[in-house]
Amino acid sequence: MYQPLHLKYRPQTLSEVIGQEHIVRTLINAIALQKIAPAYLFSGPKGTGKTSTARIIAKSLNCQSSNEPTTKPCGECNSCKGITASSSVDVTELDAASNSGVELIRELISTIQFAPVEGRFKTFIIDECHALSSQSWQALLKTIESPPRHVVFIFCTTELHKVPETIVSRCQKFDFKRVPVSLVASYLKQISHQESINIAPSAVTAVAKANKGHLRDSLKLLDQLTLLGEEEITSNWVWELSGTIPEYDLLTVCENISKGEITGNLGILQDWIESGKQPTAIHTSLVSFLKDLLVCKTNLNGRHLTQLEEDTWEELVSISQLWNIDQIRNAIAILMARQSLMRDEDAHLWLEATLIEIVPTNKGSHQSQPWKDWKTAQDAINWAKEQLPHLTQAQLQEHWQKLTPINGKKAPAWVEAVQKLQQKQLQQA
Ligand SMILES: Nc1ncnc2c1ncn2[C@@H]1O[C@H](COP(=O)(O)OP(=O)(O)OP(=O)(O)O)[C@@H](O)[C@H]1O
Ligand SMILES: [Mg+2]
Ligand SMILES: [Zn+2]
Repeated sequence: MYQPLHLKYRPQTLSEVIGQEHIVRTLINAIALQKIAPAYLFSGPKGTGKTSTARIIAKSLNCQSSNEPTTKPCGECNSCKGITASSSVDVTELDAASNSGVELIRELISTIQFAPVEGRFKTFIIDECHALSSQSWQALLKTIESPPRHVVFIFCTTELHKVPETIVSRCQKFDFKRVPVSLVASYLKQISHQESINIAPSAVTAVAKANKGHLRDSLKLLDQLTLLGEEEITSNWVWELSGTIPEYDLLTVCENISKGEITGNLGILQDWIESGKQPTAIHTSLVSFLKDLLVCKTNLNGRHLTQLEEDTWEELVSISQLWNIDQIRNAIAILMARQSLMRDEDAHLWLEATLIEIVPTNKGSHQSQPWKDWKTAQDAINWAKEQLPHLTQAQLQEHWQKLTPINGKKAPAWVEAVQKLQQKQLQQA
């Protein structure tokens, strides 16, 4: 029977959960030392392993291959199989999003006094727990404070801020993180190998990037790509299917902006919209790419700070010569100011307007000669304070004093010095 990849590759032991090292280590120790908390709270973005980990704990507590809780549940015994099939009598999974009322919770609480039927523990996994009504939380509060020794609650949520503080403080809390793109990529590579999926290395990275560290969505996309029936899956297919923007298009857009070629960009934008790219996705790609451009401009060895492929980075390095730092920062600022318009019905119009506005005008070149506005040394220092808010007036004074003029002029030397300090700050950040 066909099984989607994200279900086939659901981790079955704690050591198979990737990208959550501190959580895995703590839970392995807790189980090995038999220090099981009565209530756990797993929070974090979707598809990062919360439900999987909750089920692994349930298995670890009750696996029949061992006489006590084990960090390596066998996956074969009745208990393990029951939990996988969601049919174990000792493990209750509740989706609070569809059962938020208090009746079900009361019913659940009324059963906890009874000993487990097959295993050592009764586990209650409450998924999407932020959806529980306040009455439900009230009812749970006393129970999770001092439950019977054989009971473990595991609350999972993507919206921690909606969980009452009184509950949070009574649980052992674990924050699941988005998995780094590089780790997702190597995981996908491994699975592709096991499944004999022929996919280009750059396409694997593109899948991971398109889903920003969400494993479930990455695996789903990989699944979808295999159905294309292509000899080899390339990045182009990934961009096509996921609705993300190809890097080579973004390179062209950046080059066009710097050269003031407005119509070229409007054409690219139109192609994107016609091929179904969403304005929000276009907006995010542009902001993120300009951020990469800024990194590139300020640190030639900064590729690891971006998720760019090597060849894209190299092209970006040459395009970055056409930009100055202020122009890049302006472009990002303009885009950010338009963010809320991207869900508007006319978002594509706003995008067009933004792409036009982003093109540096003569005002831009004036900004590369800010001294035109300076009358005194203090003006120059005040300008620098705006660029380097982390430095004090005194520190800036000191830099000003030490300045070596260029061709006898202090102002251009000052702009250069400030830009260097900015770069240093960016590299440290
Ligand atoms: N950390 C992880 N390590 C390995 N696989 C993972 C991880 N996180 C997610 N997955 C994959 O994604 C699928 C879904 O994961 P899971 O149901 O545990 O996510 P979740 O955090 O509960 O998400 P949601 O908030 O949407 O319920 C798993 O079956 C597995 O294939
Ligand atoms: Mg879940
Ligand atoms: Zn077992």
